[in-house]
Amino acid sequence: MAKVLKVAQIGCGAFAEGQDFPNFAENPRVECVWCCDINEARAQEMAKKFGIGQVTTKIEDIMRDPEVDFIKVCTSHEAHLPIIEAAAAAGKHIFCEKPMAMENEEGFKIIRAVRKGGVKICIDLNRRMSPSLHALRKRWLAHRQNPKNNSWRYTETDRQPYPEELASHFLARVQDDTASYRLIHLDPLRGGGEIIGETVHWLDLACWWFAPQVPTAIQAWGTTRLYHGVNLKFSGGDTATILFNTGGTFDYPKEMFEVTCLGALFRNECFLENQYYGMGDPEREVFPLQRDCLPEVGKQGGLDGYQEKYYARVKGLANSKEGHNNLQMDKGHRGMLEGFVDAIINDKPSPCDEVSGFLSTYLARRAIESIRLNQPLPVPLDMIYFDVL
Ligand SMILES: NC(=O)c1ccc[n+]([C@@H]2O[C@H](COP(=O)([O-])OP(=O)(O)OC[C@H]3O[C@@H](n4cnc5c(N)ncnc54)[C@H](O)[C@@H]3O)[C@@H](O)[C@H]2O)c1
Repeated sequence: MAKVLKVAQIGCGAFAEGQDFPNFAENPRVECVWCCDINEARAQEMAKKFGIGQVTTKIEDIMRDPEVDFIKVCTSHEAHLPIIEAAAAAGKHIFCEKPMAMENEEGFKIIRAVRKGGVKICIDLNRRMSPSLHALRKRWLAHRQNPKNNSWRYTETDRQPYPEELASHFLARVQDDTASYRLIHLDPLRGGGEIIGETVHWLDLACWWFAPQVPTAIQAWGTTRLYHGVNLKFSGGDTATILFNTGGTFDYPKEMFEVTCLGALFRNECFLENQYYGMGDPEREVFPLQRDCLPEVGKQGGLDGYQEKYYARVKGLANSKEGHNNLQMDKGHRGMLEGFVDAIINDKPSPCDEVSGFLSTYLARRAIESIRLNQPLPVPLDMIYFDVL
């Protein structure tokens, strides 16, 4: 019989309800056995809703339970370090929401704790596990290694390409309606603001995209709490730009990724569809949703199909969060859980380990520093490799 890992949920708020508990319930290799929250009523409510047997407000109950294989940390950000230190000391593996840490020092302590405890950690920087971005990256890699441009591509014949024309450029455009954010996410002590709380996703994604290159320089502008832009340079000459806008609308999906490379363009429309240009006729590839409450609507899939479902779902509603969890593109949450379960059972590397978790926090802090100083900053190599901790 396949091994089933027992997980304890620590932090039973909005994200736990929308992702963690449903994803555990759908995964045959996972069983959730504890609901822990400092708000007991909330833990009770989630235990009842998802049929979970044990409830506590104290993490010590979980650390003492020999049945628990791993914990899922889904609290506000400032609570990560003590929970991770306790779990690592108790020999429990750790699946932790992003950001791994709010400050670099906290990140160093987390790296030391998991290495000392000999446990695996996975940070839920989930975009790197989305099926559509895996497909996009595969096509980009193939083109970069062996470019096959359209016969009609116009190139000037009396000069050689400049080195910067051989680089790839990664753009993440995020348009968010930040009026929907709760105060806790913007609180400097508990959430840290959007660069720490959200942009870690795209900083991680850019690093994952260009690996094994590493970032060498960063420059950011905007406000450290909300709207901002970040440029990253990589060791092989490739670049990434992240644009985070606050005054957007959920009526159009939030994220768009675009990579240009050697006369070709690779676009991802919010995990719903990929578009490929410059390598023959334009191509479109659509991807299944993670959750679809309206399978009969927008059956063509992709961006158009999603938009039809979205408008059908919100029709007649006023200022409502209702139904939000039932229409979701596949941003990689399920894939990250699956990858971590696999890493634990088969003793493989974590799909997003402590070094990746640290790097995204470090880059977010560096971006904040760049905004405050109004200048570009280097990314030193000793912030990327940690053999000594
Ligand atoms: N990966 C993603 O795409 C994604 C998306 C949304 C949220 N998140 C992350 O999920 C986490 C939770 O966000 P949320 O919106 O659910 O917040 P939330 O405020 O709704 O839930 C947090 C819960 O943690 C509990 N809590 C706080 N400190 C605790 C402690 N020390 N021990 C036990 N419980 C504690 C709170 O009582 C609350 O119920 C955050 O880290 C956030 O960044 C990730």
